[in-house]
Amino acid sequence: MAMEFRITAICFLLLLAQGPETQAAIFDVTKYGAQASGKSDISQALMSAWKEACGSITPSTVLIPRGTYLLTAVKILGPCKAPVGIQVQGTLLAPANPAQVKADGWLTIERIDRFMLFGTGTLDGQGATAWANNDCSKNPNCGPIPMNLRFNFVTNSVVRGITSKDSKNFHVNVLGCTNFTFQHFTISAPETSINTDGIHIGRSTGISITDTNIMTGDDCVSIGDGSQQINVERVTCGPGHGFSVGSLGRYKNEGPVVGITVRNCTLTNTQNGVRVKSWPASPAPGTASEMHFEDIIMNNVGNPILIDQEYCPYNQCNMKNPSLVKISNVSFKNIRGTTSTQLAVKLVCSSSNPCQNVEVGDIDLAYTGKANTGTQGGAATSQCANIKPIFSGKLNPPVCVNSAQSS
Ligand SMILES: *[C@@H]1O[C@H](CO)[C@@H](O)[C@H](O)[C@H]1NC(C)=O
Ligand SMILES: *[C@@H]1O[C@H](CO)[C@@H](O)[C@H](O)[C@H]1NC(C)=O
Ligand SMILES: *[C@@H]1O[C@H](CO)[C@@H](O)[C@H](O)[C@H]1NC(C)=O
Repeated sequence: MAMEFRITAICFLLLLAQGPETQAAIFDVTKYGAQASGKSDISQALMSAWKEACGSITPSTVLIPRGTYLLTAVKILGPCKAPVGIQVQGTLLAPANPAQVKADGWLTIERIDRFMLFGTGTLDGQGATAWANNDCSKNPNCGPIPMNLRFNFVTNSVVRGITSKDSKNFHVNVLGCTNFTFQHFTISAPETSINTDGIHIGRSTGISITDTNIMTGDDCVSIGDGSQQINVERVTCGPGHGFSVGSLGRYKNEGPVVGITVRNCTLTNTQNGVRVKSWPASPAPGTASEMHFEDIIMNNVGNPILIDQEYCPYNQCNMKNPSLVKISNVSFKNIRGTTSTQLAVKLVCSSSNPCQNVEVGDIDLAYTGKANTGTQGGAATSQCANIKPIFSGKLNPPVCVNSAQSS
């Protein structure tokens, strides 16, 4: 008996000793002057706590406890001496006026290895004023509008559990990051909010987004040039504009997009489903390959399956010259549900760089609205150009039949 007790006790002590999280030293921002008044800026307190945590030679955590705090803007900079986290249990409020943030990121996190942002708290960008005054679609010199979270050159890191709410611009921008995971993350903003992409990824490798809910006014996840090994799994999207690769081919020196997987996801009432888009008249060649979209449920989704190499919003381009982005090794498999636009599958590739090795299989999409002729019902349709897909399984609608090979 005594022996058994002793073994149990030793195991218990060993358990306690495990895991850096239980050992991490805590730097609580309220010990550095932060007040949960929702009115006095905690930027200084957060920076002081961060400085100590980042300088610690053992794992550490900056804690923002329960309560509501005003935060003007911070740049959280590494490198740090050991793994370091920020735990948000409370609500951080951004100033409603974008000019008061004075930066393109509200929380910018930069050049840190083994960073973790976690907790049950909320980052509230208070974006309504910024959306109401956003004229960036008409005014190319529109002022900088801050994103809730910017991760620049962050490696081997995790975001877990927190909520990004009502960002003034994109909720999250991931630039130059490697091995970065978002899990059990929530993004929330109204359907009508302007330019509030959920997570935008560019020039990054090994980014994973799993078990995440995204409700926003623009793309749920958008993947820009130079993105490699991006994995989106068990993510719900809606409202929003869907999952998007691109737009590509607008600028010189764009890096290739390689290895995108969107799997086991559900989209509800979104403007688009899964799409790859590139601009015509590209200034330089580009490539996008190894992109797989599978096991996806579409609930009343517009343009559920879309390759658009004639992407040209606001007619800002010369449509006479084709896109120079080469799209290859793509699959759309097991995609089911309902489409809110009659055109359910549109695969319009570049006339100078036709799509290659695109597999389309097990598609079942029913059109919920009225046919173009105005009569009730009508079957879902497809449109194809400069592509000869490889088909498998059942296809509803039939894909690339009765559809011109060039649009
Ligand atoms: C990726 O990051 C996680 C979280 O820090 C870490 O546990 C894992 O070892 C990293 N993977 C590689 C291949 O470095
Ligand atoms: C995701 O995978 C789980 C487990 O295989 C399955 O039960 C669920 O229906 C899948 N969801 C979608 C949208 O494919
Ligand atoms: C596409 O897949 C084929 C066959 O697996 C492979 O040989 C080729 O290198 C791939 N192309 C690209 C651009 O990844």
